[in-house]
This record gives sequence, C-alpha cells and structure tokens, in this order.
Amino acid sequence: MKKVLLTLTALCTLTGLLAQPKLTKDNIDEVLAAMTLQEKATLLVGGARAAIVNGVTSGVAAEVPGAAGNTRPIERLGITGSVLADGPAGLRINPTRANDSKTYYATGFPVGTLLASSWDTEMVEEMTQAMGNEVLEYGVDVLLAPGMNIHRNPLCGRNFEYFSEDPLLSGKMAAAYVRGIQRNGVGTSIKHYALNNQETNRSENDARVSQRALREIYLKNFEIAVKESDPWTVMSSYNQLNGEYTQQKFDLLTTVLRDEWGFKGIVMTDWGNKAGTVKSAKAGNDLMEPGNQNEIDRIIAGVEDGTISREELDRNVRNMLEYIVRTPHFKHYKYSNKPDLKAHAAVARKAAGEAIVLLRNENKTLPLAGGEKVALYGVSSVDFVAGGTGSGNVNKAYVVTMEEAMTKAGFQLDPKLAAFYREHKAYDKATRELTAGTGWSTWGGSKLAETVIPAPAINQEAKDNDVAVVVIGRNAGEGADRRMMDDFELTAVERALLQNVSAAYHALGKKVVVILNIGGVIETNSWKNLVDAILLPWSPGQEGANAVADILLGKINPSGKLPMTFPINFMDHPSSANFPYNYTGQPNRRGVRTPLKDIDYTDYAEGIWVGYRHFVTRGVEVSYPFGFGLSYTTFTYSKPAVKAVADGFEATVTVTNSGSVAGREVVELYVSAPAGGLEKPTRELKAFAKTKLLAPGESQVLTMKVSAYELASFNEAASAWETAAGPYTLGFGASATDIRTTALFKLKAAQKWPVHNVLAPETK
Ligand code: BGC
Repeated sequence: MKKVLLTLTALCTLTGLLAQPKLTKDNIDEVLAAMTLQEKATLLVGGARAAIVNGVTSGVAAEVPGAAGNTRPIERLGITGSVLADGPAGLRINPTRANDSKTYYATGFPVGTLLASSWDTEMVEEMTQAMGNEVLEYGVDVLLAPGMNIHRNPLCGRNFEYFSEDPLLSGKMAAAYVRGIQRNGVGTSIKHYALNNQETNRSENDARVSQRALREIYLKNFEIAVKESDPWTVMSSYNQLNGEYTQQKFDLLTTVLRDEWGFKGIVMTDWGNKAGTVKSAKAGNDLMEPGNQNEIDRIIAGVEDGTISREELDRNVRNMLEYIVRTPHFKHYKYSNKPDLKAHAAVARKAAGEAIVLLRNENKTLPLAGGEKVALYGVSSVDFVAGGTGSGNVNKAYVVTMEEAMTKAGFQLDPKLAAFYREHKAYDKATRELTAGTGWSTWGGSKLAETVIPAPAINQEAKDNDVAVVVIGRNAGEGADRRMMDDFELTAVERALLQNVSAAYHALGKKVVVILNIGGVIETNSWKNLVDAILLPWSPGQEGANAVADILLGKINPSGKLPMTFPINFMDHPSSANFPYNYTGQPNRRGVRTPLKDIDYTDYAEGIWVGYRHFVTRGVEVSYPFGFGLSYTTFTYSKPAVKAVADGFEATVTVTNSGSVAGREVVELYVSAPAGGLEKPTRELKAFAKTKLLAPGESQVLTMKVSAYELASFNEAASAWETAAGPYTLGFGASATDIRTTALFKLKAAQKWPVHNVLAPETK
C-alpha cells in the first residue's frame, strides 16, 4: 500500500513539475493542480524569516526586519511570499537596520482599550486607515491586529491591547479597525481566536466554558468582526478550549468560523509550534506561524500516511492562494519606506482626544484656566506609558511626556519637582542598563517604580503652586498577568503620595487632579474622594500626553466612556474567583503534576455574568460603571421614537447640548428582554451612537438599528439562538446604570436560529 502511495506521490510530483502556470487571481485551480506535495506543505508553513521568540529576533534575515513572520514564496509558480507584523497599537518593526542610516519608526497610536473608550467607530476607522498606510508603505502585507479578547478579568496582562468587557462594543470596534486598515489593500489578523483571556500559562491553559458563555460573550465579538469587516486572516490562540487546543479545534476554526459565519480568509496559528501540526491543518489552520521545517515534514508525512486527506490539504492551500493574490507583495507594490509620520502623529493625537475619559470633576475643577503654576507628581509624568510591552509594543520615534505636553501647553511646572523626577528617571535608566538583560521583561521597556516625596516637601510645593497634577502609571504586556497587590491596588508609596498631596493642597484651598496613565483597570474607590478630578487617558500612544493637555485646558471637551466596569474590589468580579491573580512566573511545562486550578485550567464558572452583566443584574455597587464618562457640558435626551422594521427595530433619540460649551455625547442603547424563557441580564448593550460636536443648545437625532437576531440569547438545550416574543424595554443610557429615557418595542413572533451543537465542555 505504502509503495503504491509513494509511486502516486512521485507521479503527482512529476506532473506538477511539468505544469508551470504562474499564479494570477484567475488561475488558482490551475496553480493548485500544478503544485507538488512539497510545495503545498511549504505554503502552509511560515518561513521563520523574522521570528521573534521572547523578544529576540531569530531566523534568516527578514525583508522587513522586526516583522513577526512571513509566508514562503514558491517562485516556480509565481507564488510570492508575504510579510506579517504586529499590531495592534501601530506597526511593530525594527526602527533601525544594519548598515543602513535610515530609520523605520512607526507611529505609536492609542491602545485598543482607549480606542474602545471613544465609542466612535468612524474615528477608529479613520485612525486605522492611517495606521494601515504605514503597513503598506513599510512593505508589510498583514498587520497582526486587532487584539480582541474579552476583558473577562481586570488583570489579564494584555487587556490594554483588547477593547472591552462587552462583545458588541468589542466586535464593532474590531470591525471598524479592520475596515480602516484593509482600505489600504493590506490585511488584518483578528486575534486571538479564542479565549486567550489570561496570559498565565497561556500556551497550555484550558479555558473551560459553557456553550452559552462562548456563543454570547467570547465568540460574539469575533462573529461581528467577521460579518462586518471581512478580515483577511484570523489568528487562532495558543490556549485550549474545553480540553483541546483552539488551533486544533475543527468546530471552532471551520464549523463556526467558516460554515456559520461565512469567513473566507485564512486562519493562522499564534506564534507557537505545537506538535500537532497535522491536526491544526485538518482543523482549518491554513498557516503555521512562525513556521519551521518540522512542520513541513509533518504535513507531508500526514498526507502520505493518510492522517490528512488531499482534499483537506487542498482546501487550505486554496485559501492560501486566495490570500496571496490579495497581497501587496503579489501585486509588486513599490513601497516607499516613507509613510507620513508627521501626519499620522496628528491622527494619533486626535484619536486620543476623542477617547480620553473624565471620571471625576468636582466643582468644575477642570478645565484649568491655563498658565497655572503646576506641581506635577509621579514618575509617569516623565516616564509616560504610551503603550504596553510584548508584541503589542510599537517602536516609535518618540513619546511625548506629560511634562513636555504641559509645558508646551503653557503651564508653569514646578522646576524643582520636574528636575527631581528627571534625575530619578536618568538614574533608574543607568542602573537598569547596568543590570538588565535583553530578555522578555525588557521587551518594550518596563515602568519606573514610584518614588517617595517627603510630606514637608509637598507642603512647600503646595505653597509654591496653584494646582497639583498626579500621574499614576502602570505598564503591562504579553506573557504575564497583572497582580492584585501593588498593581490593581495602589502601592503604599502611591497611596501616601495621593494622601499627602491632597491634604497639603486642600488645606490651602487648591485642587488635585489625577491622570491615570494605565493599561488596565485599577482600584479607585478607596482614594477617588481624596482628589478633585480624575482623567483616564489609558496608554494613549506617542502623542497622547498632548491630548491630555488639550483636555486639561478645555481645548478638547472629553467625550470618552468606559468600555468596562471599575469595580470597588477586585474580588467583586465573579471571574476573580477563577483567575490567577497573585501567581508569579509560568509553570514548568515539562513537569508531570496534578493540573493546577487557574494555571493549567480555568473554569469560566461565572458563565455569561461578565462585567456589567453581573454588576447591574445583581445590583453590586461599583466604583465607575460600564459606559460611564463625564463631560464639561451636559446633555438632555428627548423621548425616543421606535419603529418596527423588517428584521427588528429602529430607534431614534434627540440629544441636545444643554450646557455652555461644545461637546459630544455617546448614547448607549441597553435592551431588557421580556420575562420568562432563558435567564438574561437585566440589560444588555445592543447599539450605541455618538453625536458630532454639538454647540451649546444644538441638537442631533441619533438613529440606532437592532435586528431580532441581535436580541437573541443562546439556548444550549436547543443549540439555537432564540429571541422571545413580547415587550422589550429599550433604555437609552449615559452609562449602564444611568438610563435617561426608555421606550418599548414589541416583537410579535418568537424567532429561532439553530446552529451546530459544538464546543461543549468535556463531561468529566
Ligand atoms: C502573540 C501575538 C503576536 C505574535 C507575533 C505572539 O506571541 O501572542 O499576538 O501577533 O506573537 O509577534
């Protein structure tokens, strides 16, 4: 039998070699037929030309140094190679090259969480259009972005790359992001599909999730992105899902993604070589990244021993060929290596300005008048966190710090304090250079620790200045989760700083403003009342500090709103009971041991009760609710109008600026389902819209459309999406707990959309 197979293979190879068509977008079948088994296997495996393993570049020199990976060319058939690079806060490539005096910086745009805080899909699309231009002009074919895992828990180390705790907001943001990038004729890779909701042991962790939570929370955002933006590629995650690696799960990669949602692009693995290459290919992974020779050999062996059929192989190869013909490399695009970084810096600044969230503003502390004497506290004022670490880091030419931005904005910064922090930064940099290695933890830089300012000094500064601005910073990134202590919670030094500054300035009737330069949610409830104003710019990119200064001055009126809940206590999140919140390091993968809870497996025991779905439904008090954000003006909402349309309803509400300065408002449409049937959250976000800049007294009609399918919940027993008939309450909110006006929509007949009964947890 084996002999016959070998002869067959040899024959195929021979016919393959005889036929030499050159690939065009119209002869994919012909090229496929001409390919040898070796060539087919080669096309399914990346070339590792620029693999980054734990921050270190390895492999053959890349055409675009610092790009994460590539696909291999097959010159005989005119199959060009392609280049893949991270994402998501901009293009991650090396800024300098050997024997080349030119630089290759990319723009550091705001992180995903800040983009989601804008609730402005048009702005995101515009911004990523500029980002995509850098992808194209630096010779890259696919940006490995956006990152879109759900913020299941505040401590996931990569939350900053991701959008939200809510699947609708996350899905809409991802779709806008993808459309903007792909308008340049380059691709995206929505990632990490799916359930990469923790970094601890991310390549092995088994996420154990119910079918309902999967469908409604963790896959829903991917479903929206696939259906609304046609991403060229999807990146399967490292972790397991209900007992099997996601990259080897046919039901996830083919049944749901392709058969149910209609995905037409390629699926690539995240950057890990798992031994089960053949299983991955069978499951619907078209491309193994970063790729190595073993994987090519395994695929060939798999075909020869029948583990993977020729039809399965050809399905993947065809997907790859269809991908290749879309790429700039295939079209021989002459990239310039000269994107307009200046113009893009302005785009990044504008994006941050539309998204920064004002959390607190007692007695109209902000905006400041301008020109004040400011005592600027916190090491992050000189060591500003523009983005996170790991593959989400961007090699940008510069990062504007709060010190620079505020000085430029005309504030008079306390010179002694500024000098102190700058010295501290220089000292820390010098000691770090002496002691640090080049490993993972320094990939993209880490954060300075806060330093003590003695209380007597603070008392003096309070006398010398008009106002205090305190910057609290956090940095996180790929490969590790954040911790509950000294990260979610303030450190003792930070707490003392806030207490001492507030006491000293308030004693003299002066104000204290806090800027949260963070990548993930921190504890705010215990200290927020100490201070007068809190601004949340997250990690807003290289120009973000300028946007913060614009808001401090009132040049921009903040209009961002939270894409997740700020709880009072970390443990208030139901997922916290099943999250490695104080685990340090990574487990030894090779050791044989009893599987560890939250490390080797994670029970998503909270089911669909993620974020506000839990807090609102169960009436758990929070520090700041989902969807919350203040403005320098106020808005009123008219009585809404609702009309039934063919497949759902259309609601309109008129928003009027009732205050005295121009501003923008986000309206969040929450829907409460009729009683009976499946247990549902009190309300769920089903649509949102943002006004243009409204002058005082000006109004705008916002229209939001929701289909019956979008109202559905997942019934595991029937393996179907179901929308019950009856009255739906539509709540038009300024946050999840601030519903300004409501309306009723009556759905006449129940509707049902059966889907495959797949991805169920293992029964043990
Ligand atoms: C990350 C991906 C990234 C890839 C390539 C992986 O470790 O999880 O998000 O795109 O590396 O750098």
